[in-house]
Amino acid sequence: MKVNILKHFILFFISISISGITSINSPDNNISLKFFISDGKAFYKIDYKNRAIIDTSGLGFEFQNIPPLIDDLQITRLDSLHFDETWEPVWGKEKFIRNNYNELEIHLGETHEPNRQLIIRFRVYNDGVGFRFEFPEQSNMSSVTITNEMTEFNLTGDHQCWWIPADYDSYEYLYNTTKISEIDAKKFGYENRLDRHVMNFKAVNTPVTFKSDEDLYISLHEANLTDYAEMTLALNENFNFESELVPWSDGTKVKTSTPFNTPWRTILIVDSADKLLTSNLILNLNEPNKIEDTSWIEPMKYMGIWWEMHIGKSSWAPISLEGSWSDKGTKIHGATTENAKSYIDFASQNGIRGMLIEGWNTGWEYWGLDTVGYFDFVTPYSDFDLIGLIKYANDKNVEIIGHHETGGQVTNYEKHLENAFAFYNKLGIRAVKTGYAGGIIPKGEFHHGQFMVRHYRKVLETAVDYQIMINAHEPIKPTGIRRTYPNMMTREGVRGMEWNAWSDGNKPEHTTIIPFTRGLGGPIDYTPGIFDITFKAYKDKEKVHSTLANQLALYVILYSPIQMAADLPENYEGNPAFQFIKDVPVNWDQIQVISAEIGDHVSIARRSGVDWFIGCITDENEREVEIPLTFLNQDVGYSANIYVDALDADFETNPTAINVFNQNVDNKTILKFNLSRGGGCAISIKPTGN
Ligand code: NOJ
Ligand code: CA
Repeated sequence: MKVNILKHFILFFISISISGITSINSPDNNISLKFFISDGKAFYKIDYKNRAIIDTSGLGFEFQNIPPLIDDLQITRLDSLHFDETWEPVWGKEKFIRNNYNELEIHLGETHEPNRQLIIRFRVYNDGVGFRFEFPEQSNMSSVTITNEMTEFNLTGDHQCWWIPADYDSYEYLYNTTKISEIDAKKFGYENRLDRHVMNFKAVNTPVTFKSDEDLYISLHEANLTDYAEMTLALNENFNFESELVPWSDGTKVKTSTPFNTPWRTILIVDSADKLLTSNLILNLNEPNKIEDTSWIEPMKYMGIWWEMHIGKSSWAPISLEGSWSDKGTKIHGATTENAKSYIDFASQNGIRGMLIEGWNTGWEYWGLDTVGYFDFVTPYSDFDLIGLIKYANDKNVEIIGHHETGGQVTNYEKHLENAFAFYNKLGIRAVKTGYAGGIIPKGEFHHGQFMVRHYRKVLETAVDYQIMINAHEPIKPTGIRRTYPNMMTREGVRGMEWNAWSDGNKPEHTTIIPFTRGLGGPIDYTPGIFDITFKAYKDKEKVHSTLANQLALYVILYSPIQMAADLPENYEGNPAFQFIKDVPVNWDQIQVISAEIGDHVSIARRSGVDWFIGCITDENEREVEIPLTFLNQDVGYSANIYVDALDADFETNPTAINVFNQNVDNKTILKFNLSRGGGCAISIKPTGN
């Protein structure tokens, strides 16, 4: 492993002008960050190639019972450093990651009693800026309740914007594509849904991504969300966003004590959409890996007794209770020993390592009812032989992935947490999917408030103790914590495949947007790979809104180290397109974006060892895609397996029409394909050895 560290604790590149403006540039000098105090208030401003990207923006905090920290501030000390390091993640989209920035550390103090202190740390990268507030230990400020963080992001134009509303409980929305000035969740038909979640209709959840008239791409998010409330962004006047933290049930935002740091506020600034996908800024702003022995952490593909519940073939519960979300009506119980064995057999025959089984443990008949404490996370239903199945799976080189649905009952989950993880650990289970479908109990807390941020972290840390990898559904948004805890594999926090099973579904453009929004935070457990696009045997109206070739391409487009083959085994059986899912890796050495435009199309190549995999998808428009294979090694012959929409494919009328064929290629080959409406293509490329 090549690690190269360069740190200069020097001041020479901070410039301080007579006007009192302190500035620092990115290593390539394209981005310039300015900080200044005016009238006792602190401001920052960011330029890209001398053009304002974030115009003068204010900073400040309000607290319970003590005066705000916003006025009468002065700079008491300035430090800067240059940092350049290359590190190797345990797993990821690249084998090595460069962390290269210039840092400006600004110490602020109140000019009068109680002389409180605050440090603002800016890190300026070639592809953006991160900054956070650090409250040192101080006698005049020990325990602190933040009631408002007033960090502004004053954008400079009515940019195109890809946003979801600031729901405090869910990120499961289609993205809206509007001008900033048109952000208003009420106008987009979310009124009923939003009423339940107490929020500002003119606020958005992050990551939120913008494109300026000058074709610059900007994305606002946060990194290392630890023991703090998540930040939503409220639109003030013009194009000025201000942080709006998700509250506790008592209306306050963050309960803490000095010393403490806020999460990093992040601003990606790049001149093409592909650079959003290759940025590591958010990951780099997290602490290095804390887990010493990582031998138990391993990316994998998985199947599951899962889609069959969503399409209504079977139920999570063997018992029907009226009003429960698992009310099975005439359906059968999905998680039976027999059914699990048949999935395990199929996974084993096809080299799929993981097997998720939902509905294995008692309590599901109460899911969605008012009953409290119905899950104990360790008792299987009587028709499910957990111990026997673990052995059955292991003998076939398959491992069971555990499942903890909490129904949102966090108090109950925390009561059982240690025991539940110890139970799985003893059985050799090393990956668990968690779920929080339902309103949080204790009542009044939100999925995205500090209470839950603490809870999700507690689960992750407990999982470390029991050597368990986590795939969280209904999670807090990803902020790069996977660098510090690489057992945080993947998460939902997106409107995933399941929505196609029981709603209007996800429009074809959805998967061309989420890599540039939600995906910038971290891996997405989207659960691709549905081959029976219309599942007519189970539902009339609902269907997946893409072609089959597009489903394959998602394994490359939507990065995740734990990736599901989501359909039923019988829908894969005998279909030559399944070969791509068998072949596609889940851990990568390199990413090469071929072409991308948010909301229209995305084409990505990824390398694992000497093999390359390509995914191309389009929105509801058909289009031609051109793929120059210049990234292949020179003078090496390769064989490409190609899975592309047939000429008559169409996501609405003919979604499963696919051409599967093989072609020899080299680094001078330019592949050209027609992608159908809602379509795509997937390609696996291996050296032929001659
Ligand atoms: C919602 C999750 O997103 C889904 O994957 C899961 O099947 C259900 N909750 C039940 O846990
Ligand atoms: Ca969900």
